[in-house]
Amino acid sequence: MAKPASNLARRADALWNWVDTRLPVSAFWKATMTGYQAPKNFNFWYYMGSLALLVLVIQILSGIFLTMHYKPSADLAFASVEYIMRDVEWGWFIRYLHSTGASFFFILVYLHMFRSLLYGSHRSPRELVWIFGMLIYLALMAEAFMGYVLPWGQMSYWGAQVIINLFGAIPTIGEPLTEWIRGDFFISDATLNRFFALHVIALPLALLGLVLMHLVALRENGSNNPDGIEIKANKDENGLPVDGIPFHPYYTVKDIFGVAMFLLLFAFILFFWPEAGGLFLEHDNFIPANPLVTPEHIKPVWYFTPYYAILKAVPDKLMGVILMGLSVVVLFFLPWLDRSPVKSIRYKGLWYKIMVGVFAVAFVRLGMLGMSEGTPAQTIEMRVWTFVYFAFFILLYFLSPGGKTKPLPERLTH
Ligand code: HEM
Repeated sequence: MAKPASNLARRADALWNWVDTRLPVSAFWKATMTGYQAPKNFNFWYYMGSLALLVLVIQILSGIFLTMHYKPSADLAFASVEYIMRDVEWGWFIRYLHSTGASFFFILVYLHMFRSLLYGSHRSPRELVWIFGMLIYLALMAEAFMGYVLPWGQMSYWGAQVIINLFGAIPTIGEPLTEWIRGDFFISDATLNRFFALHVIALPLALLGLVLMHLVALRENGSNNPDGIEIKANKDENGLPVDGIPFHPYYTVKDIFGVAMFLLLFAFILFFWPEAGGLFLEHDNFIPANPLVTPEHIKPVWYFTPYYAILKAVPDKLMGVILMGLSVVVLFFLPWLDRSPVKSIRYKGLWYKIMVGVFAVAFVRLGMLGMSEGTPAQTIEMRVWTFVYFAFFILLYFLSPGGKTKPLPERLTH
């Protein structure tokens, strides 16, 4: 015989019903979790999205605590960061959480984007998922760039100088545009103040909105999968995809496992190697900004260096800026550049495997060269890899319709 519910349980039930008849909590949970059918063959690459969400939350929370002690003023900013690191209780932890979090965010986003190249996740009907993803990527780059200026170290100052001056290469409007961005004739307190406003409120709001749109667009058609075939094409008598499984509990449990593994790695870096030898926090940024002394070697943080190498590969400044812009813009068009009859690399021929492999090497190598001093030999290498980078997209467009493919399976494989 069932035990009579305790008084407390009955009250909790009543409260829950009260809320649920006024706010569609259980309907939302059913639509997005228990009732949402996801392909049953998600693999390692499918951890990245939920982990990126986790890091977004970490960045916002640690950012709120940093803002409580940080001073957005050219006179006080550097010292306030040092104060956070030395005097604020757990300040070093909050700061390293935020700075290591920024680099991990980009690692996750790059892996997340690469998965698309593997399985064709950007292809129809998920073009908008990809476009929102690209807008997130742009917002993330702006967010990271402005965040890096805030500690007001040498690299903050001179990095900002180099990047803002790039806009100066635009004919006619270049000069007034750089002034408008800086809010002054040079990088100053006014620049720091507006970057602070954009970094702590405007861009995070934009990012949250874009992530929401990204996920809404994803749920409209459901996720792709490593086989690149649509599970909705094959339904059982109840109208459910035969190769689908409920997102909850199957993928919530999988994602929790991913979160645990990720946090282990993240904590290890955060506690033992937070500056990553100058990769996550550059050595020059531990020196206060000095407009009169240019650092010997100005370079952006690692996640921007592939594009920086493309910029440096071109002798003409304007052409360099255009090519660098193009190297990001071209990614928006990826859903329409790949015209292969199959989506997943599993069913494409060797030609695609080689192309994706070479493209990945080009991107990593450009990243490494972007950090280098830029000797004549390194500059030539930058040009070669820049050529390879763009050749990937052109070849993809022309080779993909006729490229060799394997027959697609009827059902998902394991
Ligand atoms: C803040 C950054 C981002 C967050 C929080 C995020 C979140 C997610 C989540 C939770 C998923 C579903 C789980 C998964 O497939 O891993 C997903 C899927 C996807 N995301 Fe993102 N994403 C971000 C950035 C990006 C970027 C920069 C791109 C590409 C430019 C992108 C492209 C995609 C695509 C194409 C899918 C569908 C994958 C598939 O169904 O196979 N995302 N995203």
